[in-house]
Amino acid sequence: MITTTDLTKVYRTRDREVTALDGVNLHVAEGEVFGVIGRSGAGKSSLIRCVNLLERPTSGTVTVAGEDLTALAPTGRADGGRPSAALRRARSRIGMIFQHFNLLSSRTVQGNVELPLEILGVPRRDRARRALELLDLVGLADKARVHPGQLSGGQKQRVGIARALAGDPKVLLSDEATSALDPETTRSVLRLLRDLNRELGLTVLLITHEMDVVKSVCDSAALMRGGRVVESGRVDDLLATPGSELAAELFPVGGEPVTAGGTVVDVTFHGSATAQPVISQLARTYNIDISILGAAMDTVSGRQIGRMRIELPGRYEDNVVPIGFLRERGLTVDVPTAADAERLTEEVVK
Ligand SMILES: Nc1ncnc2c1ncn2[C@@H]1O[C@H](COP(=O)(O)OP(=O)(O)OP(=O)(O)O)[C@@H](O)[C@H]1O
Ligand SMILES: [Mg+2]
Repeated sequence: MITTTDLTKVYRTRDREVTALDGVNLHVAEGEVFGVIGRSGAGKSSLIRCVNLLERPTSGTVTVAGEDLTALAPTGRADGGRPSAALRRARSRIGMIFQHFNLLSSRTVQGNVELPLEILGVPRRDRARRALELLDLVGLADKARVHPGQLSGGQKQRVGIARALAGDPKVLLSDEATSALDPETTRSVLRLLRDLNRELGLTVLLITHEMDVVKSVCDSAALMRGGRVVESGRVDDLLATPGSELAAELFPVGGEPVTAGGTVVDVTFHGSATAQPVISQLARTYNIDISILGAAMDTVSGRQIGRMRIELPGRYEDNVVPIGFLRERGLTVDVPTAADAERLTEEVVK
């Protein structure tokens, strides 16, 4: 539904250049909620602004719903420097919500939702009907006539969402839409996005720096650093990928080794494996003592996942068979310091 190819964005100011995007290849499938996460300055906002051409990419392409937006004329000849008609039409198929809502305080709630419809030239009566339908959809049917100043943050963001849906978009972009909200309100806004995704088949690309947001609503996620996507995929696949940074951040397990000579192993349980007594089977089968150093259980996109950091007695080489036992039972096994462990054992052997 959304594909970027080798997307770069270089901001040029008078005395310097900043490369905000450095060859981003992203693929968001139709109907999924896709989260992009990364530290401040990683390029997340630049990416989302390039996806709807609010910002023109320096190079690379952006395709949304099969249309190459970067190939559309940036400005129309008859439009006096404004975005071309083709670009405006394509953009109306992409809804966007913002961290600070960007509502017009002089207009009523209904007036705010009608704004994009006015720009599209929709007749007054149709505009009003559509706006009221959308306000009903986001649970604000009774607030049509009030001004944004009289609403709570969560209600303002619902108006922002209704406005974003006015052009009947296929895609909704969200840049930190919940970071100005308290945790309870965040949950209700995320639930609304999830419902809209399911009921309208809306594809959602959201930017966040909160792992909890990814955990609660995203089907897929990407991690950005220094203008690049360093990891991406479906959340359940990432959790099953040894060494995945996103998995480790979604599921920090912590826990320090208790003995110097042991082997620390991170185990991820998903699917039917969560219900099996694998650790006690392991202890009995190999007659070994297992220390549990840290553990976390959580629900990720509606599925239960567990992660555990355990310590097995002895060096890494002595534990190849028990580790194989865990893998055979469908668990993802990650030896966080395998390289170090191997190097150390080599030194010891020498
Ligand atoms: N209009 C601009 N002109 C010059 N530099 C910019 C501009 N917009 C962003 N940058 C720079 O580009 C880099 C990426 O910025 P961007 O806003 O995309 O990051 P971000 O991941 O959204 O960060 P945050 O989490 O703080 O919102 C930063 O170094 C930023 O200073
Ligand atoms: Mg940003």
